[in-house]
Amino acid sequence: MNVLVVGGGGREHALVWKIAQSPLVEKIYCAPGNPGIAAHAECVDIGVMSFHALLEFVREHDIALTVVGPEDPLAAGLVDRFEKAGLRAFGPNAKAARLEASKAFAKELMARNQIPTAAYGEFTDAEAAIDYVRTQGAPIVVKVDGLAAGKGVTVAREVDAAVAAIKDAMVDGVFGQAGDKIIVEECLQGEEASIFAFSDGKTILPLASSQDHKPVFDGDVGPNTGGMGAYSPAPVVSAELFEEIESTILRPCVEGLASEGRPYRGLLYAGLMITGSGPKVIEFNCRFGDPETQVVLPRMKSDIVPYLMACIDGRLDEMDVEWEDGACVSVVMASGGYPGAYERGKVITGIEAAERASGVQVFHAGTKTLDGALVTNGGRVLGVTAKGDSIESAIEKAYSAVTKIAFEGAHYRNDIGQKALRRLQAHS
Ligand code: AMP
Ligand code: GLY
Repeated sequence: MNVLVVGGGGREHALVWKIAQSPLVEKIYCAPGNPGIAAHAECVDIGVMSFHALLEFVREHDIALTVVGPEDPLAAGLVDRFEKAGLRAFGPNAKAARLEASKAFAKELMARNQIPTAAYGEFTDAEAAIDYVRTQGAPIVVKVDGLAAGKGVTVAREVDAAVAAIKDAMVDGVFGQAGDKIIVEECLQGEEASIFAFSDGKTILPLASSQDHKPVFDGDVGPNTGGMGAYSPAPVVSAELFEEIESTILRPCVEGLASEGRPYRGLLYAGLMITGSGPKVIEFNCRFGDPETQVVLPRMKSDIVPYLMACIDGRLDEMDVEWEDGACVSVVMASGGYPGAYERGKVITGIEAAERASGVQVFHAGTKTLDGALVTNGGRVLGVTAKGDSIESAIEKAYSAVTKIAFEGAHYRNDIGQKALRRLQAHS
């Protein structure tokens, strides 16, 4: 069959790379893709929000499966358009994607279904939100309700910082309509983990655990980014905890959505804090995580395509996923200045040399070709990814690959995977 992947970042590179290994697939297209993706797919110049053009393209190229990467087209109803046209698209429709598109909706769904999460208040009035912050005290977390490209969350160590975040969103309109409503919630303490699960609306099939690294600098210091690296599996999620997450979080979420007429078909992403009193939801996302996908999919032994189809067709109950032992680590190389302002167009060298080592794969996040050269074209540029027999060897291989790659201003964290290593050493 022919497949179209919608998107053009590191997550989509990992998806295309994995789908390309399927014997069921003849040709892959990616809209808009990137130069890394172009090694496995034909990139077509259509934006992720150009619904009409995407539909036309799918009809004209005999595409049996479309896989939607990012949240914006999902929240805006791309999959609804495909469903109406009788075409297969992987990802939740707009009603189910509300789980990510509105944090207030997600919090209310969790309350209705007794899903453990941070205590919170919901506000459409800045004064009331500020009063609530003053009574609760710091640390406290302020979140805009709508989609804000990962920038709508402030973890405030002081009351003043929370008040400033409320004013930014509700008085100055920094996030547009996304900030008309906000959530103020309890600051959870613990270690974070990401859990993905396929869902066909009734049955869920969880994937291997992973952990992202949000802050820009080593030791989790500095402003939050889209994610500076990831590893899988996350040892903080023991087998016992995994079962608890499945039964107290993932299943009630999918069942709650179904009972409210929003069957969830696609990839459900639970961002969790593993607290002293058990796992609690920080957020739900309606798509694969970035950069976690880059470490989860390389460990998946099974062909991914039958699962993508089964989510759409409601056949997940017949399936099981096989995983490779060992670990996978991805180190993000970012542009100088990111997550603040940065320049583009810096020439990138050394990817081929890095990929010569076995088990190393460099996923492109923000790259493009300019006059025949590969150059930077985003904040997060590359996800330098390596598999190893252990987390330790995966870390070593990933960083050895990183040292072979260069572009002006490149920066990365030096401690991706260290939390896993520390936890494993403490238990051995
Ligand atoms: P998000 O953009 O929703 O992924 O949130 C960004 C980051 O903020 C998360 O990965 C957490 O590190 C942090 N965060 C969000 N909510 C909370 C919370 N209630 N308690 C502690 N940290 C949080
Ligand atoms: N890794 C964070 C996200 O995909 O939202």
